[in-house]
Amino acid sequence: MFSSIKVAALSLLVASLLDVAKASVPASYAIWAADSGIARGQGNGLVNGTPTVSYEHGEFQWALRLLYEVTGNGSYFDYIKSGADTILSDDGTTIGGYNVSEYQLDHLRVGPTFTYLYDQTGDAKYKNGADLLRAQLHTHPRTPAGQFWHMQQFFNQGWLDGVYMGDVYYAEYTNRFEPENQTAWNDVNLQLSLMYENTVQTPSDANYTGLLYHGYDASFTAIWASPDRGHSPEVWDRAVGWYFMALVDLLEFVPPTQELHKTALKQLHALTPKLIAQADSVWWLVITEPGRDGNYFESSGTAMFVYSLLKAVRLGFLDDSNGNIVTTAKAAYEYTIDNWVADNGDGTMNWEATVIVGALDTDGSFDYYISQAINLNDLKGLAAFVLASIEYEKL
Ligand SMILES: *[C@@H]1O[C@H](CO)[C@@H](O)[C@H](O)[C@H]1NC(C)=O
Ligand SMILES: *[C@@H]1O[C@H](CO)[C@@H](O)[C@H](O)[C@H]1NC(C)=O
Ligand SMILES: *[C@@H]1O[C@H](CO)[C@@H](O)[C@H](O)[C@H]1NC(C)=O
Ligand SMILES: *[C@@H]1O[C@H](CO)[C@@H](O)[C@H](O)[C@H]1NC(C)=O
Repeated sequence: MFSSIKVAALSLLVASLLDVAKASVPASYAIWAADSGIARGQGNGLVNGTPTVSYEHGEFQWALRLLYEVTGNGSYFDYIKSGADTILSDDGTTIGGYNVSEYQLDHLRVGPTFTYLYDQTGDAKYKNGADLLRAQLHTHPRTPAGQFWHMQQFFNQGWLDGVYMGDVYYAEYTNRFEPENQTAWNDVNLQLSLMYENTVQTPSDANYTGLLYHGYDASFTAIWASPDRGHSPEVWDRAVGWYFMALVDLLEFVPPTQELHKTALKQLHALTPKLIAQADSVWWLVITEPGRDGNYFESSGTAMFVYSLLKAVRLGFLDDSNGNIVTTAKAAYEYTIDNWVADNGDGTMNWEATVIVGALDTDGSFDYYISQAINLNDLKGLAAFVLASIEYEKL
């Protein structure tokens, strides 16, 4: 039999556990996730201690920029600026780790940070940094039809990732500095059109979802290139996630009179019902093979979809009159916070279940994608979670 002292101690314990439970629901997951990344020094311009251009940092800086707009908290702006200053020389003419001859679209993801800082500070060094990255596109290698290669070392290959990394910046730079350059607008439109036509699944394909394969090889020489169209074999969630974020971010600022705007809208309309149909609360790593042994729910792609869907509905680019899109995105987001956010008890959170990499310098097979490590606090996923949280918290 419990003594009354034991009962009192027990109810005190229960009360304090309830307090902990209450305290662990943050006012804003966007702020909690961003502050946790900042506390860990993520996205600060350093990679293994060396100033290095990095698309993950660019993605996180984009998220912090939106968070700064929402909160007005200047700490986020300062963090973006200090990350950019770490990689950019004082005159803005060199960038740590950047070598134009590699022709990596990935590096251009930092471009929006430079244009943003130029607008906010008026400091010419950021304009020089922006120009340096934009200049890469003048000589960037292309397929015969005009698609930028994903990198110099991947001959004739277009990857979905590259649209988010390179083409959003190409369009943003054009919008900001050369709005009358119709050649540039048309060129970005060509990039989206070619990428979509060459990677979209057709109904006769095995494991048809109607979404986009990870990439294609216009020369049909990659080990994974399909004999009919040169596409890679699987639909990988993060590649489609990059693509969706690119479509929605582009639609937000590309003038509606541009063909590019119409193309992005048409693609968004075609892809969204297909994406919704593949939601199993959240999305599988290899979307083409739901439930197959070794496949799993992956967090970075899921967070990218939540951000894209909610933002597209909020801005009126998707009609959600039956509420299905927001319902799906909300359910996915709630799964995310219940399963992939862990409270460290020291004021920070961990972000779980993001696959570290998926690349096409491999055989691009199901076995390849599922064999890649799951990374704790992977910035590609954490930044996407900040973006998803910002949209969810606007609902
Ligand atoms: C602004 O954000 C920082 C963390 O990045 C935080 O320490 C600080 O308390 C915030 N300031 C306000 C006024 O919310
Ligand atoms: C830049 O990249 C090219 C192509 O990969 C390479 O040949 C060259 O050595 C690199 N330059 C430096 C300074 O690393
Ligand atoms: C317009 O864009 C094209 C394609 O990127 C580029 O070659 C050209 O230099 C740009 N023109 C101007 C005036 O900036
Ligand atoms: C389709 O998916 C099944 C399992 O879900 C898999 O065994 C098969 O290899 C896939 N086919 C192709 C062409 O990817």
